Amino acid sequence: MERKRWYKDMVFYQIWPRSFKDGNGDGVGDLLGVLEKLDYIKSLGMDGIWFSPLYPSPGIDCGYDISDYMDIDPAYGGMEAFKKVLDGAHARGMKVIMDLVVNHTSDEHEWFQKSRQRIEPYTDYYIWRPAKPGGKLPNNWDSMFEGKAWEWDPVRGEYYLHVFAIKQPDLNMDNPLVREEVKKILRFWLDLGVDGFREDVITFISKKEGLPNDYIFPVSRGIRHYNHGPRIHEYLSEFRRDVFDHYDCMTMAEAPLVSTKRALEYIEEKEDSEIDLMIQFETMCADCLFTDYIHTPFSLRKLKRTWSNWQNKLDGKAWNMLYLENHDHPRIISRYGSEKFCTESGKMLAAAYLFQKGTPFVYQGQEIGMTNWYPADPELYEDVQTRWQYAHNALHKSSEKRLQRLWYGSRDSARTPVQWSDAENAGFSTGTPWFYVNENYRAINAAQQEQDPDSLLQFYRKAIALRKTLPVVRDGGYREFKKLSGKFYVYARETAGEKLLVICSFADRPVNFKAPKEFDLASGALILANYKDTDVQKNGFTAQPYEVRVYHWK
Ligand code: NOJ
Repeated sequence: MERKRWYKDMVFYQIWPRSFKDGNGDGVGDLLGVLEKLDYIKSLGMDGIWFSPLYPSPGIDCGYDISDYMDIDPAYGGMEAFKKVLDGAHARGMKVIMDLVVNHTSDEHEWFQKSRQRIEPYTDYYIWRPAKPGGKLPNNWDSMFEGKAWEWDPVRGEYYLHVFAIKQPDLNMDNPLVREEVKKILRFWLDLGVDGFREDVITFISKKEGLPNDYIFPVSRGIRHYNHGPRIHEYLSEFRRDVFDHYDCMTMAEAPLVSTKRALEYIEEKEDSEIDLMIQFETMCADCLFTDYIHTPFSLRKLKRTWSNWQNKLDGKAWNMLYLENHDHPRIISRYGSEKFCTESGKMLAAAYLFQKGTPFVYQGQEIGMTNWYPADPELYEDVQTRWQYAHNALHKSSEKRLQRLWYGSRDSARTPVQWSDAENAGFSTGTPWFYVNENYRAINAAQQEQDPDSLLQFYRKAIALRKTLPVVRDGGYREFKKLSGKFYVYARETAGEKLLVICSFADRPVNFKAPKEFDLASGALILANYKDTDVQKNGFTAQPYEVRVYHWK
């Protein structure tokens, strides 16, 4: 089937279901809640929804530990509720993409239960190894979440590999039967009408033969031997050829530690490209090293380098996936913006990425400027990775320092319930919410921002609508200016007949801005701004804290 690449004209909304909206009052977000909010999502200008996992799951990694791939968790309303949401989204002209998590399953999945008992054909569905002499682990790899990457299974009398949590055993993708299972799952959902998949850590699915030791490296030892592994392209091509090519659908790969060069191996636009879009992590590392837990001061230059790198290197070859937030990273205003200038910096950050070339994704709550939370008690954190980090890493530091590390690095910062209104529990649930509600909900909530024409929410609507009416945003070239500035991010989008200049101040105080000579601000139309005073003098202006302006010429 010819690829339509319809995602290029779209903006997507990501729903992390547990915290989106509780429709039945049990304290957990669900599909009834999503149904209630479909009009809201559409009103933002969204063309599609990516659902983080909705499948039955013990929930140790909030659904990324799946125990049944062909059903919807009853806690979310089951299959009936899902079909209603799917129909409701389609009726509103929105696509729906699901999360495909096949690097690992839950240890409660039937396959694992049978594999540990060596029941055929499941014996080799997972990566099992005997203990080395002296009961030693099969190799020195680390788990991303909990200690070592190997767990002893007394039933089978062998170790199994888990790159993530202990309860998330890695599938053995080298086994053709496992790949057939994956194809069955894909066909099941595509036949049901879903429009594509976001593929969870899909670049991890092929492990190097012999599972060799990795050298001593402080983060994720082993990753060199399973990220972009030896047979990854073979497997992804197989899924493409046997399944995706027969459906009108899109695929988006999550790819930790991926360079633009490497990304092009997967997403370069060709008849047989394996994947359509790639979730890279580089643009999320402007205030950390490799991972959110190794916090460093925010560097605008680093951020700009990575943004421009992806814009330039993919240009004309592949399509960018643009994002500022998802369920794995703390909130962006608290990181790259300013909680003090919450609305201003939220708007600036929105424009900074929404006018780049690519398909933008907006994560639930981002559009109203939800921020991080700063609990005094580490016990309040739910996330498996966060809890491990606190209990085991950086033990030499004071408990206060370790807690602060969580404030800046924990994924839970993005997982507090969406703040719908200033009613009890932020209008998220009439019951007791499963998770802490950020107490700033009285100041930051959707209902209040609906009423305020100058709110961040309305700014998102306006920016998304503009994106769609200006062909230059979809098709134009990208050019960055003032690359060395530690205060401004400035970029142009250009076609032969149209120009756009996006000026973003990342400074928390007034700073002077002078436009590049070839852009005469006085003759351009100011189509988006976050301050009322928009005077221009001598082709420049004094930019207020986190000011953004978008000029247009035609
Ligand atoms: C990436 C997902 O986004 C994250 O939430 C999850 O914990 C890991 N993969 C493991 O599935």
